[in-house]
Amino acid sequence: MSAGEQPRYGTWIRSSRLRVFAGLCLLALAGCLFAVVSPWFLLFLAPLGIFGYITLILALTAYRLGPRGGDFQRRIHLLVATSLPAPGGSALDVGCGSGSLAVKLAQAHPALTVTGVDSWGDDWEYSSAECARNARIEGVADRVSFQQQCGSALSFPDASFDAVVSCMTFHEIKENADKTDGVLEALRVLRPGGTFVFLDLFGDRSIYPDPGKLCALLGAQPRPLTELMPLPFPLRHPKVLGHAMIVTGTQGNR
Ligand SMILES: C[S@@+](CC[C@H](N)C(=O)[O-])C[C@H]1O[C@@H](n2cnc3c(N)ncnc32)[C@H](O)[C@@H]1O
Repeated sequence: MSAGEQPRYGTWIRSSRLRVFAGLCLLALAGCLFAVVSPWFLLFLAPLGIFGYITLILALTAYRLGPRGGDFQRRIHLLVATSLPAPGGSALDVGCGSGSLAVKLAQAHPALTVTGVDSWGDDWEYSSAECARNARIEGVADRVSFQQQCGSALSFPDASFDAVVSCMTFHEIKENADKTDGVLEALRVLRPGGTFVFLDLFGDRSIYPDPGKLCALLGAQPRPLTELMPLPFPLRHPKVLGHAMIVTGTQGNR
């Protein structure tokens, strides 16, 4: 890593979202204080409780994912990167965010060239420039590159990569009503015999209602993240990472 400059890997909790809920919380609190001696007090109390709870969960999640709270986001990326069975050749990271996983893949596998793709839409705080900066600072810019692409329709021909990874992205692809379509698209660009590691909310039945279909297309059974990495509160909460599962497999075992 270059001396002085530090990589920037924001957590999965968007600070804009945290600010919105904290603002709503303050408004409800102000309402409670103004109406403290009137029946209107109760009108503000319920929103204060709800927005306060959401703000607390979001803030604690961001803390736990970040370096001061146990660095769970980095540890999850390391788990995905090291779960890939020692590949050389080329790898694709679908939904690479800040480039953290792509960088860790390159660091864990010195013979690997990594491409990270992401849509970098307005509702996220990551960017291609930030990814390139992080790869440069981490000393892997010669083997890691980034492209803006939509995970629902990758521009790469079939069987382009020796390995494909993705972390917490398939459920975010708005273009796919059926979130297994993102998994299929990622597998399309993986060569026969190539390996994949996917981590997503595969255990959430509101996102992936048919576990049988998921297992059939993966050719492998996803494992709960909590089996491999004990998660503290609130990360183990079902609305946070309680439904996160990881799956490793080989193209052709389907
Ligand atoms: C929870 S973040 C995970 C980022 C990264 N994989 C990581 O583990 O840090 C979800 C990512 O999905 C990306 N994303 C959302 N919709 C996408 C799409 N249609 N195509 C590609 N990436 C998308 C977002 O830009 C964001 O970077």
